[in-house]
Amino acid sequence: MTTTTKVRDLEDAAPSVGLPMDRVDGPLKVTGRARYSAEFPTPNVAYAVIVTSTVPVGRIIAMDTAAAEAVPGVIRVMTHRNTPKLPMKEAGMITTKSLSLMQDDMVHYNGQPIALVVAETLEQAQDAASLVKVRYGGTTSPTTDMRAARTTAYAPRPGVGGQPDSKRGDVSAGLAQADVKVDAQYTTPIENHNPMEPHATIAAWEGDRLTAWDATQYVMGDHDTLAGIVGVAPENVRIISYFVGGGFGCKGMMWSHVPLAAIAARAVRRPVKLVLARRHMYGPVGCRPETEQHVVLGAKRDGTLTAVQHDSVSYTSRFEDYTEPCANVTRMLYATPNQVTTHRLVKLDLGAPTFQRAPGEAPGTFAIESAMDELAVSLGMDPVELRLKNYAERDPESGKPWSSKSLRECYRIGVERFGWARRSREPGAMRDGNVLIGHGMATAAYPTYRMPASASVRLTADASGTVRALVQTASQDLGTGTYTVMTQVAADALGLAPEQVRFELGDSRYPPSPVSGGSMTAASTGSAVNLAGKTARDKLVSLAIADVASPLHGALAPAVSTADGRLFLTNDSSKGETYAALLRRQPGGTVEVLSNSAPNADSQKYSSHAFGAVFTEVRIDRELGEIRIPRVVAAYGAGKILNAKTARSQLQGGVVWGIGMALEEETLVDRRTGRYMNADLAEYHVPVNADIGTIDVTFVDEVDPYVNPIGVKGVGEIGITGVAAAIANAVYNATGVRVRDLPITLDKVMGGVRV
Ligand code: MOS
Repeated sequence: MTTTTKVRDLEDAAPSVGLPMDRVDGPLKVTGRARYSAEFPTPNVAYAVIVTSTVPVGRIIAMDTAAAEAVPGVIRVMTHRNTPKLPMKEAGMITTKSLSLMQDDMVHYNGQPIALVVAETLEQAQDAASLVKVRYGGTTSPTTDMRAARTTAYAPRPGVGGQPDSKRGDVSAGLAQADVKVDAQYTTPIENHNPMEPHATIAAWEGDRLTAWDATQYVMGDHDTLAGIVGVAPENVRIISYFVGGGFGCKGMMWSHVPLAAIAARAVRRPVKLVLARRHMYGPVGCRPETEQHVVLGAKRDGTLTAVQHDSVSYTSRFEDYTEPCANVTRMLYATPNQVTTHRLVKLDLGAPTFQRAPGEAPGTFAIESAMDELAVSLGMDPVELRLKNYAERDPESGKPWSSKSLRECYRIGVERFGWARRSREPGAMRDGNVLIGHGMATAAYPTYRMPASASVRLTADASGTVRALVQTASQDLGTGTYTVMTQVAADALGLAPEQVRFELGDSRYPPSPVSGGSMTAASTGSAVNLAGKTARDKLVSLAIADVASPLHGALAPAVSTADGRLFLTNDSSKGETYAALLRRQPGGTVEVLSNSAPNADSQKYSSHAFGAVFTEVRIDRELGEIRIPRVVAAYGAGKILNAKTARSQLQGGVVWGIGMALEEETLVDRRTGRYMNADLAEYHVPVNADIGTIDVTFVDEVDPYVNPIGVKGVGEIGITGVAAAIANAVYNATGVRVRDLPITLDKVMGGVRV
């Protein structure tokens, strides 16, 4: 690699970015004034409830809706018989194949929406929905067991998850050189997203104009897709999504309930509210698919990897291909010369799986980082040493240099803060009475993505001389802190205090922003907000130097500085004026800019990933098998941290989910019927406060001048990666039992306790 141009020279630490600022929307949230999609007061709103199929495969032969229609307050029962044919034009992000909009009589999975009841009240709609009778024909025994159907696995076409195959060097030759090998199979179950806020849509028509208040991770995707599916001119659709109560991937694509609300509202000529019940979030709105991962590692005595093989199988629905790209992380993690990875799919009669926090990397790091621990055990080597031995100094797959990588520093910080040196390598050696103590670690990683984004800035000065900036973009805040960090980015770019900035998102009328998925909001929308802020600031400078009324008239732009709402000569700060004075001389007292920002070709010369290291302690009751995680220590190199408080909170949340993934979460499917058996929060276990101990998060102060103009890598997803492996490795260290099948439940530990 020779020299390349930097995206820009990073400037000195700006005054607002980086500070642990409180959430600007915090007061609204804690006082209940933040309005979520289902909460918009809508006069004359009717309530819709979906009816779902009770068989996995077949045809609807007959539907008896008489009893449902007789329920007082019922306005309409919609089925495939009376639902208008929709244009179903593909636009935006989704494939229409995964939508169930009652366009035909086919049933593709158990739990598929097949009817919609609209009534005056929610209770009436629920009651009526329970009375819809359906007769099915052509029902056959479904294929729902991925492992049993393993022989039907196929290579998917390259898509969002990348290429299905990767190869470098010669794995057989590499394995032949190996002194030690690991050959193991790792499995992870279906896991469901369980955001606190379920999917919710209110749809309202005014003539041919449609407004949808929708809980979404992608306002503009929702906008384009809804228009195409329902058949409305895009300019006549408006999506509003000011607050989202968690998304984690399941709100990244538009699912059936959104167009269903829209067509129901059109049919009954009233606004319609459709909120999914928790049980309706199992099946029609995606999940993380089950995975089976085969990992083979070969290494020399000194730990040098000679070969890596990672073959991943996950399932998808009958109607579309979704790949859980588990081996993507393996492709870039270690500097082995010989490597083969594959992604394969098995078709099952289940609802479509989808993106879930760190899709690919979350289950993928469980497999590869468990296997690395097994290798360390076989070699009698410290697991951190083994990873350092195979440290990738550049991206081993593409050969590109890293835009930045602080993984060494992450290991070092983790080792130190955790007290790794006190660990005994001998399983069962650390005890506290009847409690076995285990220490485990794993590497965390997630790629940095960026997509085009736009933002607008309007600067005004009121009569009292107060300058305000209104910054808008059609992004989303899933609860992660977008409102807050964008306020900080805008304030610094404009040379204003955060209190002077009002940042707005969640309306498709604002300039477009990409999906809040792939951990890319800060990188994409943040770059646009930064650009719009800087452009507005530059516009003020050029207005001043062109204006005979300005003390800066005739100055050269590069000689002018801005800070604290004032423009002045860099070498004579007494010569200048306030933004307010300048703005008051502009038409309407206002200056406006719109900026479009897109990835720079130079950034493609680098491989950009956030990295981290996770260390965990487990305490296991020797007689009961109860597993507790008193502490997790994690360190991350994720570029510039825009807000130390919201970023830490985001990473802690990821670690919490990692603990859930390791010990609790598992969606159970009745293989005979394809029915989700634990479709509620009583039976699908997620961690609660009592399950979580200390989560110590440290950020490496990482400066990345190449990744994007604001130097951020994103922290949305990396927090979950590596956690399940670190816990499985700690469980081994405590008990000598290697659990390769998530979740690590008591039976699996007790069944194999050896110490
Ligand atoms: Mo994230 S699973 O890309 O919303």
